Amino acid sequence: MDKSHSKMVEHSKIRWLINKTTEDWVNLAISNPIEILLDHAHCERKAAGVALQLMFRYVSEPGLSEVLSPLAREELEHFERVLAILNSRGKKLQKLASPPYGAILAKNICKEEPMRMLDSFLVAGLIEARSHERMKLLSIHSPDLELRNLYADLLKSEARHFGIYWKLADERFDRNILTSRLDALARVESDALVEMHQAPRMHS
Ligand SMILES: [Fe+2]
Ligand SMILES: [Fe+2]
Repeated sequence: MDKSHSKMVEHSKIRWLINKTTEDWVNLAISNPIEILLDHAHCERKAAGVALQLMFRYVSEPGLSEVLSPLAREELEHFERVLAILNSRGKKLQKLASPPYGAILAKNICKEEPMRMLDSFLVAGLIEARSHERMKLLSIHSPDLELRNLYADLLKSEARHFGIYWKLADERFDRNILTSRLDALARVESDALVEMHQAPRMHS
């Protein structure tokens, strides 16, 4: 990791996530590994979808497809990796009720451009940051070695992904505007997790 990137990660740790994940969440997650894996598979699938959706929406935006296309591919690789573990444990992909997290964040994205673009990058980055934080916790606390290794591997990419979304925003928007939207959306993100959804989910 180069110096500027590690600085970015530090920055995101300080600024992007207002509330830390609780021990209750960790205990719920490690007690329900299959449900978390299923939800995680959906998260990876959705992360690929978000990158593709942004590429499609801003098809003429210079420099966007160049970073979002590989990101989408990588998320699909993660999806396939989680799916393979599920299959090896005799489970198939199935629908799962989503926690309100994603919908709450989406509702807070500005409707008007160019702010819609900025908010979309920041929300995608916040979700990556939270995934990174939680995968790190699972990579330490899961009692299952295969799962600890899975999360330890994947979290490195998630750290890079929120760096990509941060850079996409920073290259296109005034730093003061970016920071003030980030503060507001980070508050929404943390508040969305305070009322914990009872079911074990990556973002409950
Ligand atoms: Fe991923
Ligand atoms: Fe990611």
